[in-house]
Amino acid sequence: MSKLYHKRRTLLCVLSIALLQTQLVFAQTRTITVQVDKPGAAIPKTLFGLFFEDINFGADGGLYPERIKNRSFEFPNPMMGWKQLERGEPKGQLYVYDQGSINDTANSHYLRIKTPAGNKGFGVVNEGFRGIGVEKGAEYSFSVRARKVDGSPTALRVEVEDGQRVIGETQVAGFTNVWKTYTASLRANDTAGKARLNLVLEGAGTVDIDLVSLYPKDTWQNRPNGLRSDLVKLLKEMKPGFLRFPGGCIVEGRTLDQRYQWKTTIGDLDERRLIINRWNTEFNWRQTPDYYQSFGLGYYEYFLLSEDIGAEPLPIMNCGMACQFNSSELAPLEDLDHYIQDAIDLIEFANAPVNTNWGRKRAAMGHPKPFNLKMIGIGNEQWGPQYVERYEVFAKALKQKYPNIELVTSAGPSPDGERFDFLWKKMRELNADLIDEHYYMAPKWFRDNATRYDNYPRTGPKVFAGEYAAQSVGIASPDNRNTWECAMSEAAFITGLERNSDVVKMSSYAPLFGHVDAWQWTPNMIWFDNLRSYGTPNYYVQKLFSVNRGTRQLPLMLDGSTKNGVQELYSSAMLDEGTGEVIVKVVNTSSVTKDVAITLNGGKSARPGRAFVLQSEDLKAENSLDQPMKVAPVERQLPVSSDFSYAFLPRSFTVLRIPIK
Ligand code: AHR
Repeated sequence: MSKLYHKRRTLLCVLSIALLQTQLVFAQTRTITVQVDKPGAAIPKTLFGLFFEDINFGADGGLYPERIKNRSFEFPNPMMGWKQLERGEPKGQLYVYDQGSINDTANSHYLRIKTPAGNKGFGVVNEGFRGIGVEKGAEYSFSVRARKVDGSPTALRVEVEDGQRVIGETQVAGFTNVWKTYTASLRANDTAGKARLNLVLEGAGTVDIDLVSLYPKDTWQNRPNGLRSDLVKLLKEMKPGFLRFPGGCIVEGRTLDQRYQWKTTIGDLDERRLIINRWNTEFNWRQTPDYYQSFGLGYYEYFLLSEDIGAEPLPIMNCGMACQFNSSELAPLEDLDHYIQDAIDLIEFANAPVNTNWGRKRAAMGHPKPFNLKMIGIGNEQWGPQYVERYEVFAKALKQKYPNIELVTSAGPSPDGERFDFLWKKMRELNADLIDEHYYMAPKWFRDNATRYDNYPRTGPKVFAGEYAAQSVGIASPDNRNTWECAMSEAAFITGLERNSDVVKMSSYAPLFGHVDAWQWTPNMIWFDNLRSYGTPNYYVQKLFSVNRGTRQLPLMLDGSTKNGVQELYSSAMLDEGTGEVIVKVVNTSSVTKDVAITLNGGKSARPGRAFVLQSEDLKAENSLDQPMKVAPVERQLPVSSDFSYAFLPRSFTVLRIPIK
């Protein structure tokens, strides 16, 4: 026989063996073994929390539902958001004054409206936050500070106008020559997302106005000056363990002058001093020159919100450093007292009894009971030796006065590299409590890093994965989308946080909110317009992890090994001692169904369980205002025994809850 024949035969054999092996691999059933009778470390209640920053109109125009932009005429251009309204001759006049208001320190500007006799309608229009949202049948509280200057103005007519239609109106009247607050109720007779507000001064004369407000009556818990209920509901339903606030780079400011100073965010609304929002002109791709912080949602509202949604507050303080991506301005080390005092006073505002200075202020705002603050962050995303020096001064002062308050410190803006290594080394030497790591990376990075914490030291500082999000285009860009691939990759990564929750004590996705017409940064967990909101696939990933957190880790073997993320399966297991259920979470990032034989060692299933499946075969799938639940969890019955098999759908994240005896 020829040499060629032999060669062909050998090749054929090799090919058949290879084919057989491939088939064996495909046919091989994957296994998950959970050691139910050997619960490990307790899962921290804070493992899944929230990061709130006023970015993307997250506060004014978002969670803080005031409809009037620049309501106190305090923007550097006092008429930004306002324009003259005239309905024929003779016209009146508008003037902005900056002395003689109710509070000349924090809120000095106001508007003077002068109307001549015989006018057919003169006043001002406010454009709202990319329009004003009102709902048919809903009631809104209109209020204004006003005083009469001269003449006989009879009333200020208030109209909500959509296109050419007035869809709600009311009026206030009876002005005297002292500043007073006038209120009226307005009911909308139609729904509009982008209406505007007209203020028409009737009669002939001059009136000063300030602090103009149109506020929904339907707020969270129906509080006056309360928060937007649909958004708070989405947060509360996540059962978050903590709420970090107010950021983010907002904490730092582009310059120290523009840093977040909590004392100017509490008290009466006209005592809260407006400042520029540092995201105003941050990105050339989406400038928002009308973005300021009114602090209607200030520190008091923040503590209340944390309490309402059952989250531990985690305030972040400026540590004498402005944003290092901007000015990098530093407060000299010997001048840090003021910054440290701010932190001390905030702790007092949150926790001190009502007979103290700050406790009294909290009580006066309506909350005599302490907020029970347990942790505080020193600096946001700082780096370098200047940060370490400042942290040391803060830590010394705070630990001496409040040894039980945990301090959160920064690991810089990226998940590795020189800055990161330097900070971890230093913070370890300083025996820091919690180190805040940030990762905004490509989806693949999240899948590849599901084992990131497996080899972190078990002693020393704990990890706070304080800001993370998978970016669909892999870098900060306006093209990033909240796709299912991003969310699924985050889910794969989070199984690694859970398996290492003795080291990773806290984690939060960032940013939280984005207004669909006014954002600067993407992706974001929750998107909204002036009336509607929806959770992204990333929101549902976070929610599924958080509401199925469990109380103790359970040892888990995937295909007989403790390594996570093998052949596109990622998983974790925990016990919920409260409900007596084993929780198994599995992320299948592959494009095929994975049949997995699941064994619960040392535990018997008591009755059928439940499966919650979040899935889409389309990696680019997204939710939207019109299709808010395109990618959302589906609940299924789960017939189980101690050994059972489960088919994990392609590109899915599944949570199994199995009641055990
Ligand atoms: O989440 C957006 C920004 O990303 C935060 O403000 C900052 O801390 C990080 O750079």
